[in-house]
Amino acid sequence: MNIYHQFIFPRLLDRMMQGESFSIYRRSLLADVSGDVLEIGFGTGLNLAHYPSGVRQLTTVDPNPGMNRLSRPRLDATPIMVDQRLLSGEALPMAAESFDSVVSTWTLCSIPKVEQALDEICRVLRPGGKFFFIEHGLAADDPTLQRWQNRVNPLQNWLGDGCNLNRDMAALVLRVFPQTEIDQFYMENLPKLGGYMYRGIASKSIGGDD
Ligand SMILES: C[S@@+](CC[C@H](N)C(=O)[O-])C[C@H]1O[C@@H](n2cnc3c(N)ncnc32)[C@H](O)[C@@H]1O
Repeated sequence: MNIYHQFIFPRLLDRMMQGESFSIYRRSLLADVSGDVLEIGFGTGLNLAHYPSGVRQLTTVDPNPGMNRLSRPRLDATPIMVDQRLLSGEALPMAAESFDSVVSTWTLCSIPKVEQALDEICRVLRPGGKFFFIEHGLAADDPTLQRWQNRVNPLQNWLGDGCNLNRDMAALVLRVFPQTEIDQFYMENLPKLGGYMYRGIASKSIGGDD
């Protein structure tokens, strides 16, 4: 990980993603999060202020120490007990069925082995547990925009520390949580290339893996 990715990118991201246009979505997605919570791709802690007051215990994973460093003031200010881990989402050391809720906001785009991470999310959720997500990805309704997302992706991948513009998030989530209803929409005030959103709350079935 070079200086740009560890020191400059976290600051750019923090500034870009702390505005009200993102907060609105954070608040509404996290309103029903409860129990033992795991957040994948914690970043600079921008979700912390939006967890409901019932959330007391949060475990977070993120592999970028620069992100973890910038999250410190928010960690100091929160009443939530946070167990922050410098880890990737693809190989979680947590026991199976140990969380009631898993949260991912704008993170699945950046995880190299994203299918593996989704399998891990399902593994660590208790039966009946919920996966709360909002992610940007492939513009499902616009083939021309998709072509541009594919063209620009290598540049975005470098500038955005592994971020991909062209992942079909619905297909990725539905493979692991087949019953999920997924809202798909363009987020206002964002360039269309990165503005196509997938949002939902997936449940792990009581009887099996989905
Ligand atoms: C666009 S940022 C979003 C940060 C945060 N979730 C938010 O909403 O502000 C993507 C985050 O995913 C993290 N990330 C990258 N690769 C990861 C991996 N393999 N496992 C978990 N998180 C990862 C990055 O370090 C970064 O913090």
